[in-house]
Amino acid sequence: MNFYQKTMIASALSAGVLALGLSTQAVAAADTAAQTLAKQSGCLKCHAVDKKKDGPAYKEVAAKYKGKANAVEKLTHHITSGEKVKFEDGHEEDHKIVKSKDPAAIKNLVEWILSRQ
Ligand code: HEC
Repeated sequence: MNFYQKTMIASALSAGVLALGLSTQAVAAADTAAQTLAKQSGCLKCHAVDKKKDGPAYKEVAAKYKGKANAVEKLTHHITSGEKVKFEDGHEEDHKIVKSKDPAAIKNLVEWILSRQ
């Protein structure tokens, strides 16, 4: 391998590492935003990622909707419409509405829930 080839490989590698670093950062920022919105909206009083509280664990929700084409749509409706939900003890109440009107922030939260596993 001559010097030119080595340099090309080295720079291709570092570009790859840099791109990986940036996308990891973007994912981390989106995760934080989703968790912050869930917390601000009071979702975590009834939900956790991996254990059942009053509501199902987000991992369970992700498993239930895995591979379903309309998952984002359904969950967006679920957290923005205040539709009735049934609790373990049988009583019903309006489900909590997410505290954001920003479609991108809501979509980010829904995608975060659906990617728990
Ligand atoms: C007072 C308790 C409570 C709060 C607060 C709450 N939830 Fe729920 N959530 C429930 C219950 C109970 C269910 C189960 C509904 C059912 O199975 O009919 C549920 C179901 C869900 C589901 C699954 C829906 C489905 O179709 O399977 C998602 C996603 C969800 N909640 C997200 C959220 C988000 C996001 C927030 C905050 C904006 C939130 N929840 C706040 C009680 C709550």
